[in-house]
Amino acid sequence: MPAASRKIQVRIKCDDKTYPVVVCAKSAAADLDKVFKGLGLFESRGPMGRLRRRACILIDDGFAHARPDAVRAIKKLFSPGENLIIKVPGAETSKSFHRAEKILGQMISHGLRRNDLCIAVGGGVVGDLGGFVASLYHRGIDVVHIPTTFLAMVDSSIGGKTAVNHTDGKNLIGTFHQPAAVIAVLDFLESLSDFDFLSGIGEVFKYAAGFSPGLFRYLDRNATRVLDRDPEVLTHILLESVRIKAEVVRRDERETGVAGLHLGRSKFGDRRLLNLGHTIGHGIEKAYSMPHGLAVAVGVTLAAKLSAKVKLCPLRCYDEIMSLGTKLSLQTEADLHWSLKDVLPYVRRDKKLVGNHLQFVCLKDVGHAVVRLTKLDELELLED
Ligand SMILES: NC(=O)c1ccc[n+]([C@@H]2O[C@H](COP(=O)([O-])OP(=O)(O)OC[C@H]3O[C@@H](n4cnc5c(N)ncnc54)[C@H](O)[C@@H]3O)[C@@H](O)[C@H]2O)c1
Repeated sequence: MPAASRKIQVRIKCDDKTYPVVVCAKSAAADLDKVFKGLGLFESRGPMGRLRRRACILIDDGFAHARPDAVRAIKKLFSPGENLIIKVPGAETSKSFHRAEKILGQMISHGLRRNDLCIAVGGGVVGDLGGFVASLYHRGIDVVHIPTTFLAMVDSSIGGKTAVNHTDGKNLIGTFHQPAAVIAVLDFLESLSDFDFLSGIGEVFKYAAGFSPGLFRYLDRNATRVLDRDPEVLTHILLESVRIKAEVVRRDERETGVAGLHLGRSKFGDRRLLNLGHTIGHGIEKAYSMPHGLAVAVGVTLAAKLSAKVKLCPLRCYDEIMSLGTKLSLQTEADLHWSLKDVLPYVRRDKKLVGNHLQFVCLKDVGHAVVRLTKLDELELLED
């Protein structure tokens, strides 16, 4: 492992599977090779002894275009005969059953075996698709995520949710398949647009607001360095976000909400809490075609507003959340001209709607998310 890398182990409850998340500063071929060797990813161990693995490498074509040097470094990890390289457009339409089937066909034609690897290099789109095909091929082969967007680093590559879309809706078809490893290379972010970078910051904002007063204060003190993409600060917030997501997922891997609806004591016992900002955020994303994480950030400020209005949290909590959102250059509920009329049709389709009630993730305070059954009518409180 190169000296510049930092590694944490993420433990997920399913079979007590543990996998490493490695953050590296640089993407030189030699650095990546060392990380792969250090994690033992080049070989599988089985009854036949050690076997050199081959890999199906799915690469986001937007990333490939922006960073041909990085793609060369990734391709060098395996010799040409050991690689099946497939470029995937970094667009939501790539998350389709049709594309997954096509990729599975290419893997079969290439003769990939049960002990070979799938490597997903890209944002959440390629990660969700790569995890999905890996979970199906030979009833499941290892997947290694190499996320190239900040959102994928802090969120979608962790937790094992995979998905493709259906004409009737997003992420309607999917599996749970924990990765063998996640390798986040910070210099991949250099080519990421501000728009896509901030989308990842929106998810970090959610983790801080819902789960960690410490991360919240850190972001508040270091907002300028976050926006300057300072590697030291990004490493810290990335690892903190991963720790939070992993802890929630570890306790409730399949989103059964075992801790019940009211979570006064355990803020980590229910995966639904990760939906903080998403209930209204999804509607905003759809109604105004906003990137996911940016819409989530608006949703977090709306969750704080509703919580303050129903006196679940003090007004100070709402003020602090609005202030940090602004410092991080995220849009807040006060900046966006939104209306309930535009958003409500999408909220009504939410999987978390029970009768006339939403399982709305609210805040008791900064760092303390709770699920609150909320009548649809109560959403009108958000409009003034
Ligand atoms: N599985 C989960 O738990 C989970 C969680 C959150 C989101 N998601 C999914 O993630 C997806 C969104 O992911 P995303 O925000 O990463 O977007 P994305 O994968 O669509 O990527 C955004 C854009 O950035 C480009 N790109 C990627 N890396 C780049 C780089 N380093 N330099 C330049 N351009 C680059 C891509 O080509 C694309 O155009 C959605 O499909 C969502 O459903 C999944």
